[in-house]
Amino acid sequence: MARLIALSGSLRSGSYNTALARALAQRAPAGCEVEVVTPADVPLYDGDLEAEHGVPKGVEQLKDRIADADGLILVTPEYNQGVPGVMKNMIDWLSRPPQDIGRVFGDRAVALCGASAGAGGTRAAQYALLPTLRALGTRIWSGKTLYVGPAGRMFDDAGELVDEDIAKRADDFIAGFDRYAGGG
Ligand code: FNR
Repeated sequence: MARLIALSGSLRSGSYNTALARALAQRAPAGCEVEVVTPADVPLYDGDLEAEHGVPKGVEQLKDRIADADGLILVTPEYNQGVPGVMKNMIDWLSRPPQDIGRVFGDRAVALCGASAGAGGTRAAQYALLPTLRALGTRIWSGKTLYVGPAGRMFDDAGELVDEDIAKRADDFIAGFDRYAGGG
């Protein structure tokens, strides 16, 4: 059974992606722990800021939590058929300084999923993240896909996943990634 971090790439209070991350945590198999994280309070990457103040404390703490976890789930929104800046900015901070990339990302099991207003369910954004994940040396899991869209029909106003087909896919996704990341 794996210990996983689910990183949502949205700051929005009513975010579908944070709701999806929470749904995966709720639906995880017994013994699998999923910690949901959002990129709140992380500044835009700035080399001057890093030179003067180092990596922000919250980012350092998340690096440690990822390094301790068995796997990372990136729950990405999609903007203009690409990766939103908030998500990419978070990954870029997590990759600093470069000497830590191996500890945080090296051979780390990583799964991709996401929710969007459009019917594509962040397919384009998930594909766009692949070169970055490869550059960081992660072990990308491709056992299942999870494209949630149009998300407005799949979550209720409280952010609960109410679409039965997507709920079943979410179950299969988290169970499959738990086995992969946990080595089972
Ligand atoms: C979007 N949205 C969007 N949706 C989609 O399916 N494909 C896309 O290319 C885009 N492009 C896009 C660009 C910009 C600038 C914004 C603000 C939005 C809609 C997007 O899916 C929607 O806002 C989601 O609600 C974003 O995810 P969260 O914040 O709900 O997690």
